[in-house]
Amino acid sequence: MIVLDGVFAGYGGGDVLQGLDHEVEPGSVTCVVGPNGAGKSTVLRAISGLVAPRKGEIRLGDRTISGLHPAEIISAGVVQVPQHNGLFAAMTVRENVLLGGFVRRRDTRMLRRRYDELAETFPIIAERGSEPAGNLSGGQRRMIEFARALMLQPKVVLLDEPSLGLDPRALAMVSESVATMRESGLTVLLVEQNVRFGLGVSTHGVVMESGRVLLTDTAAGLLANPDIAQLFLGGSATRTPDGATT
Ligand SMILES: Nc1ncnc2c1ncn2[C@@H]1O[C@H](COP(=O)(O)OP(=O)(O)OP(=O)(O)O)[C@@H](O)[C@H]1O
Ligand SMILES: [Mg+2]
Repeated sequence: MIVLDGVFAGYGGGDVLQGLDHEVEPGSVTCVVGPNGAGKSTVLRAISGLVAPRKGEIRLGDRTISGLHPAEIISAGVVQVPQHNGLFAAMTVRENVLLGGFVRRRDTRMLRRRYDELAETFPIIAERGSEPAGNLSGGQRRMIEFARALMLQPKVVLLDEPSLGLDPRALAMVSESVATMRESGLTVLLVEQNVRFGLGVSTHGVVMESGRVLLTDTAAGLLANPDIAQLFLGGSATRTPDGATT
């Protein structure tokens, strides 16, 4: 579905991604894990065109998407939900969701129909649509971010740290949303610091280190791997109050 082929990319001060190779299977949910600064977010940004690969190629199916403008990559069917809260707090929930259709803003009938579908999938849209997004809880905001990403019916959704800052109840909502995306045939690539949560909602896992893929396996395989437990699950799995594994 998405193929990363020898990708080098970074921010001017040198390459963060150092010849990264990976193939994301269609219909899979893949979780990328790795230490801080490994380049996990950079992988997502390279796919969505926010960082242009200096070398190598990224393909969506048969089509090369590396080098395209971010808006063209969205149109090709790849959307990213960023790591930090990306809602406009002063705009309404409805306006925030509709922003997801911006690149096809002239297609008002399609956008309206799609909005109505999403309001069924995410009841919070119907309940709080006319309120400022800033009024919502962290978990509710995450739902709105997902809905916005789904406005253009993408083929691939990229989620950067969807669990960040959420309480267990909100985590359950995120987990359910990821399951819904998968059931609807979407391919999902997510990055998680909360390794147990991330692999728990995924079919496949990728371990990154220093801009390269160290290991790939099924999510269950990685969770059962004693080296992974040692590295990321802390053996006794120390937990912070927000549920993140440290
Ligand atoms: N906008 C930027 N400009 C310059 N350097 C950046 C930028 N964003 C990230 N970097 C650097 O690139 C490297 C990889 O960052 P990246 O955000 O991809 O890591 P990450 O694996 O997502 O880490 P984290 O777990 O902390 O989110 C880091 O050394 C970081 O400091
Ligand atoms: Mg990151």
